[in-house]
Amino acid sequence: MTASAEFCRYGDKQNSPFFEEWLGRLLEDRDRQGLTDHIGRIDTLMITVEPGHSAAYVGELCLMTPYHYLVTLESEQHFTHILRIDMNAPDILVREVKDANLHGIFRSLNEVYPIGAQRPNSRYMGEIFQVANLHEVVEAQKAREIRFFHQDQIRRLELPGNTAIVKPSPYTHNIVGYWERPDPGIRVYALGLSSIRNDIQAAYETAKEMRETLGLDALLLPIDHLATRVYSQNREVAILEYLTLSSYYYWGSYDIPEQNSSTNVTKSVHFDNAFPSPVKVFTAANHPYFCNHLLGIPSPTEAFVRNFGPRLHHLAIAVQDGHTAGMTNIDYVVHALQHCGRDFLLEVIGSEQEGLKQIFSSASEHSSLIIEYVQRFGDFQGFFTKENVAGLTAAAGADETLRGLENAARRG
Ligand SMILES: [Fe+2]
Repeated sequence: MTASAEFCRYGDKQNSPFFEEWLGRLLEDRDRQGLTDHIGRIDTLMITVEPGHSAAYVGELCLMTPYHYLVTLESEQHFTHILRIDMNAPDILVREVKDANLHGIFRSLNEVYPIGAQRPNSRYMGEIFQVANLHEVVEAQKAREIRFFHQDQIRRLELPGNTAIVKPSPYTHNIVGYWERPDPGIRVYALGLSSIRNDIQAAYETAKEMRETLGLDALLLPIDHLATRVYSQNREVAILEYLTLSSYYYWGSYDIPEQNSSTNVTKSVHFDNAFPSPVKVFTAANHPYFCNHLLGIPSPTEAFVRNFGPRLHHLAIAVQDGHTAGMTNIDYVVHALQHCGRDFLLEVIGSEQEGLKQIFSSASEHSSLIIEYVQRFGDFQGFFTKENVAGLTAAAGADETLRGLENAARRG
């Protein structure tokens, strides 16, 4: 039996006695119930985009990440495009609603937030975990008061019929799904009619050609981590809820006081390496927004959540360690992408000596998601450096402020 509470703890952020007590109790119960061993890796990530945006977004992802377009599944109200690297990394499902006027639960999660509402169909939805026995995992989770969509709701929402889907988290607004498949079998999504769509294939081939011409294929690795932003008061419960739903453990939290923020890291108990099952990061402000006027420091994390709602902020792609054309690989990747018109929010930060370099792209106009690139050097053991996180958080905050002002100006 895996002992989820026995992993080494990192970080400097103090948690409450409530968190420390319930972290131990919840993990011990999860281990004892067999859930830690029965819930495997993240198999699939689900992202939804505005109508008419999926070809452009698939093109963007296939240029900026190592993903390939596989096939499109068409159901009554949606197209769902499947992107894959291989069976050692999670798939990405890019889902597009056909009718802009269709209202549903995922759209509602955007609509009450001022900037989130401007692209009501664009958001990261959540992830699907591979499990050993679907019935057993669902029954055990129901006994722990986890609420699932009924099968007829899954059918109406046009989510894969062979999954069990937990209702959106009150803290992150993300969903978690479970499905059973023989490992290392193939992944087949029970959802509509399958075809290769010409416009998606064309966007993919153009992007893939560019990716190869620029030499990015050899440098871009799978997803390293997924970073979700939540309200300050939900930091601890969002982490504990995710550990209840998954087979992840609590790695630790770093305080970023100058950005009024903390970065909180959870990892799969099953893999040392993040590529089969990306690290899940939760970012939250240290103080709620109404303290800002007394603190007098920036609060980009809370501002993001107030503007967009709790949601995934970025996905991070790992960059192969090494040098290309006389520069570090991450600098080479960024230069190459800038050359073909991609924007970044800041310069590459960190250094080879510190062991880690990182950068944020501008947010996608199709999904609102940022892509982070991260290159670790040599035997760098840490997950990140506090200086880098502070720089990235500040840059993303400055960008959102700018965009907020632009939007306000446009509205007059
Ligand atoms: Fe990150």
